[in-house]
Amino acid sequence: MKDQFVDQIKFSKKKLKEKSNNYVQNFKNIERYIKEEIEEIAKLKNSSKSIIPEINYSDLKNDFLEVKRNIHKRGCVIIRDVLEDDRINTLNKELEVYIESNGYYEDLKKKSGLDKYFSDLKSGKPQIYGLYWSKTQIEIRHSLEMLNVKKWLNNLWNYKNHSYKVFDPNIELSYADRVRRREPGDDTLGLSPHCDAGSVERWTDKNYQKIYDDIFSDNFEKYDPFNAKYRDRIIEFESPSVAHVFRTFQGWTALTEQGPNDGTLQLIPITKGVAYVLTRALLDDVPENELCGSKIGRALSVNKDYHSLLLKGLISIPKMKPGDTVWWHPDVIHAVEDKHSGKNYSNVVYVGATPYCKKNLDYTIKQSKKFLEGKSPPDFAAEDYEINYKGRVKLEDLSLLAKKQLALEDWN
Ligand SMILES: [Fe+2]
Repeated sequence: MKDQFVDQIKFSKKKLKEKSNNYVQNFKNIERYIKEEIEEIAKLKNSSKSIIPEINYSDLKNDFLEVKRNIHKRGCVIIRDVLEDDRINTLNKELEVYIESNGYYEDLKKKSGLDKYFSDLKSGKPQIYGLYWSKTQIEIRHSLEMLNVKKWLNNLWNYKNHSYKVFDPNIELSYADRVRRREPGDDTLGLSPHCDAGSVERWTDKNYQKIYDDIFSDNFEKYDPFNAKYRDRIIEFESPSVAHVFRTFQGWTALTEQGPNDGTLQLIPITKGVAYVLTRALLDDVPENELCGSKIGRALSVNKDYHSLLLKGLISIPKMKPGDTVWWHPDVIHAVEDKHSGKNYSNVVYVGATPYCKKNLDYTIKQSKKFLEGKSPPDFAAEDYEINYKGRVKLEDLSLLAKKQLALEDWN
């Protein structure tokens, strides 16, 4: 690591320790809370009760306060039946045709120079596809149903404060992301537990320090993970894998049925779990230039060496049907099962919630230029596979809503 970053980490840790009357005691207090949460999760697991809150799309109009309270605590939610099964089945098939008829696999081998890597895989097929502008993705991403879901999710946040309105929860922009098509038997895609939206930044960025101020200054009980203040003002360390938007929730939509052991998503359903990671790094057994394994430009690391207590809370999400969606708060630790032991493809389209704010608008404008050219969006490797693809969605194919969400049309 460059010296300037090492100094920044040392300086930040010193400053954050000074916020507390006793940083060891502060950590212990947070640890106690996490232990109770872990015990509760274990109990629910043993009684086969659902741990991740769930709600049906058709129930979003009802004000289920209990569900909302639970989402605030768990930081995640499954919203079922957002899109009809038949529609999704068709879209899943169309995506397959888009991939195969345009020669994606051949392109991938040629362009990526990763022949050797892919020849090591049984099928020679990737699991994550660098595609963004297929009809399948656009139709899901810009559907009215998805807009309704995202509005509902955005409104779970406290988006206004005394000094400014952080975002408009009822206006959604869009963040083009990739596709996962995980084939049975795959054991190459597992992701160890992590958080996106910043790693080292969570300690060193001055806005993250403000967001987490209650955690560091002995006021953990007062910390509100759904207070959006400053979340739109974080400055990321530049790296190819970092997202330049503020997502109220990350998420995906299932294209196929998939359940535990099908290589699916795992979550630690404790919204405030990140406080454990943050304050653990300040303890005296962690070298002053280190943050329990988190590195610049990588995801926030959650590992056995430092966070074994938290990891006990990692659970696989329940069975998902085509058209079901899962959503998680940007502080929620998540992972992907190492192996797909199921029988069918587990396919998803990644769609997160990116409400209207300056940060998201700035990105969307850059993204829309890439859309018009059929190129990969700015946050992703410039593989640009789709430029000449048949069936790629063009400007004239977009609905008015899609144009607005891509900042190609005014919202007024
Ligand atoms: Fe992630």
